[in-house]
Amino acid sequence: MAEYDFDVLVIGSGPGGYVAAIRAAQLGLKTACAESRETLGGTCLNVGCIPSKALLNASELFHEASSGLLEKHGIKIKGVELDLAAMLADKDEAVKGLTGGIEYLFKKNKIEWLKGLATFVDAHTVEVAGKKTTAKNIVIATGSSVTPLPGVEIDNAKGIIVDSTGGIALQKVPGHMVVIGGGVIGLELGSVWMRLSAKVTVVEYLDQILPGMDGEVRKEANKLFKKQGMDIRTGTKVTGVSVKGKKASVSVEPAAGGDAETIEADVVLVAIGRKPNTDGLGLDKIGLALNQRGQIETGHDFATAVDGVWAIGDVIPGPMLAHKAEDEGVAVAENIAGLTGIVNHDVIPSVVYTHPEIAGVGLTEEAAKERGDVKVGKFPMMANSRAKAIRDTDGFVKIIADAETDKVLGVWIVASPAGTMIAQAAQAMEFGATSEDIAYTCHAHPTHNEAVKEAAMAVQGKPIHI
Ligand code: FAD
Ligand code: NAI
Repeated sequence: MAEYDFDVLVIGSGPGGYVAAIRAAQLGLKTACAESRETLGGTCLNVGCIPSKALLNASELFHEASSGLLEKHGIKIKGVELDLAAMLADKDEAVKGLTGGIEYLFKKNKIEWLKGLATFVDAHTVEVAGKKTTAKNIVIATGSSVTPLPGVEIDNAKGIIVDSTGGIALQKVPGHMVVIGGGVIGLELGSVWMRLSAKVTVVEYLDQILPGMDGEVRKEANKLFKKQGMDIRTGTKVTGVSVKGKKASVSVEPAAGGDAETIEADVVLVAIGRKPNTDGLGLDKIGLALNQRGQIETGHDFATAVDGVWAIGDVIPGPMLAHKAEDEGVAVAENIAGLTGIVNHDVIPSVVYTHPEIAGVGLTEEAAKERGDVKVGKFPMMANSRAKAIRDTDGFVKIIADAETDKVLGVWIVASPAGTMIAQAAQAMEFGATSEDIAYTCHAHPTHNEAVKEAAMAVQGKPIHI
């Protein structure tokens, strides 16, 4: 009889967990995955990346059709109506297809789904739904959940004070939505409801939205969202939210001190960050401590301080992004199998799926300058022929390169397809490219990516079209 029930047991089936399970199974390891949700796929597929992108796409289509935006292309549409129930149902259909797809992949790869909440009994045993299961290796991929705002009670069912899960399922377009937090979720979901006709006010504690992004990009984003009609209050803190009947009152005051103000809202979306999921895991039973931010620390191989226990995704340090979790999922499985699984954490792109999209990879100009001399090249989308042809010219591409070696250190893009464009920058950086390498690579015409080439040419001091 085998010493353990499984070679690998993954806790959590988000992009980190399900990918780790599939790769482990592909490598010939007997694998199980514990998931307490009704469906597989974690935050990303169920209530995160996928439903939010479905709504971002549908709301943009509605906005283009209803706002007269298409008239400049000679397309006149009258009597456009919103069927919100149908839009939400279509989003749910997208989620169902993808979560069902993971279930299919589990069956195909003979991965056993242990349905229920997993708790450690010891370093090689977990209990799920009253049953103990043992594994030689246990991967913690429990993800993250919404950071609560003290004193502000989220009630997604009521639909007045909601988090992102409630914010992708509102049954009515709010007259006024107040978003607490000018980060990725606030701007993406704020955009969705604004396009569907809500007035949107974003209250951000810091003096700029989108923390962590390049300074110039943050400024440009602020300008563009304001132009679209979003009321962005930076340097403002929320001191309380009260609900009376179907309305909420949000008390705010300047972060630096000053007069308080009350903003009335139909819906308040709390989006002030996410925290790692470790409660109830029983980490004390295996003697695994958390760091000050409540995360599980690992080495580069994703092994924790406890033998046989590994961790990946949102529950460990680093950006809370699905593709980061996925790459860690592949790497941890390869390491467990005795191969060498590596993730280059210096080259993880991030994308905000607004219109235009906002994307970056590598260092911001500010961070790069702290390390040494840099050369910066910029190219406006206004001078890109494809952007001009489709009359969608907001944004720019910015490349930051080492002044001495010309090695690309960071790329930042504001452009309608920035999320797709950033992939070439990530690949170039992964290959250790210089800006000259990009500048002398032939790019198809007319494409948005030519702006990346021209920004690289600008680093060399020789762009053609500006
Ligand atoms: P998760 O996806 O959180 O999955 C963890 C799973 O573990 C959950 O299903 C949970 O139920 C389960 N679990 C937890 N504890 C236990 C336990 N004890 N036993 C059994 N099961 C357990 N990222 C992007 O890259 N792009 C995007 O566009 C994007 N959009 C987002 C939009 C929103 C609204 C939100 C909230 C997040 C978004 N993210 C996006 C972030 C992305 O969802 C996360 O980074 C990603 O899901 C993390 O993957 P994970 O596998 O670490 O954890
Ligand atoms: P975030 O960290 O992106 O932004 C939170 C914002 O809230 C920050 O700007 C912060 O300064 C502000 N804030 C914090 N406390 C506040 C307070 N009391 N009052 C006012 N503002 C306050 O977090 P968010 O938007 O909740 O998203 C969580 C994570 O989910 C992101 O970090 C990201 O990793 C992931 N995500 C990724 C997406 C993508 O890749 N497109 C989309 C959505 C989420």
